[in-house]
Amino acid sequence: MKSPESNIEEKRQAAEAAAALVEDGMTVGLGSGSTAELFVRALGQRMVAGLRVQGVASSSRTARVAAEVGLPLIELDRRLDLAVDGADAIERGTLNAIKGLGGALTREKLVALAADRFVLIGDRSKLVERLCDRQAELPVPVEVLQFGWKITARRLEALGRPVLRMQANEPFITDNGNVILDLYAAPLDRPNDLATTLHALPGVIDHGLFLQMAQCAFIATERLTVAR
Ligand code: 5RP
Repeated sequence: MKSPESNIEEKRQAAEAAAALVEDGMTVGLGSGSTAELFVRALGQRMVAGLRVQGVASSSRTARVAAEVGLPLIELDRRLDLAVDGADAIERGTLNAIKGLGGALTREKLVALAADRFVLIGDRSKLVERLCDRQAELPVPVEVLQFGWKITARRLEALGRPVLRMQANEPFITDNGNVILDLYAAPLDRPNDLATTLHALPGVIDHGLFLQMAQCAFIATERLTVAR
């Protein structure tokens, strides 16, 4: 599902730029996915040079990478100084984003919302003029309770085409024990309305629209900001 133009060097540049924002003693939200993992590794490098930091991991995979680089983790029980995460699409003017192709969207959103500053990182393939520009290929991931998921899927049909995410011929199960319905809801010209509708649906845990959340994004070496 990842974009074919995805560029590891640009992801690394963005991850290192975000890691430079971290100050000694900070508590940092750690996103999920390949770019977020590069951020965790960049923090690990800075820790070797003496930086003291603790983190909150948004997925079991990120927790494993943090353990590998010796970054101490705490549970999400307080405000965080900063959260940094990748995205699947980032809208240039607003920094609204679609996330969740890695399946960690619910914890990622909790972590991002707990942070005083939320920073997105990505390679150039993630940057779009409007979120709906990538809609043909990019669904809005929706995390859904397993119990009654087919009924929830039927409700989602009023909003687009929901597809149960699969992995190795089995439904993909999130760290929270839920399934993901990838909602093809083009054209995504009113993301706020879709977000509100999705939140109101029984069985929906959360969705991958991250709207009005990020203040800053690093796209390779380019820095984008919006006032919040
Ligand atoms: C996981 C996510 C990821 O941040 C998103 O899929 C980007 O991944 P990558 O950095 O590997 O391109 O939302 O739920």
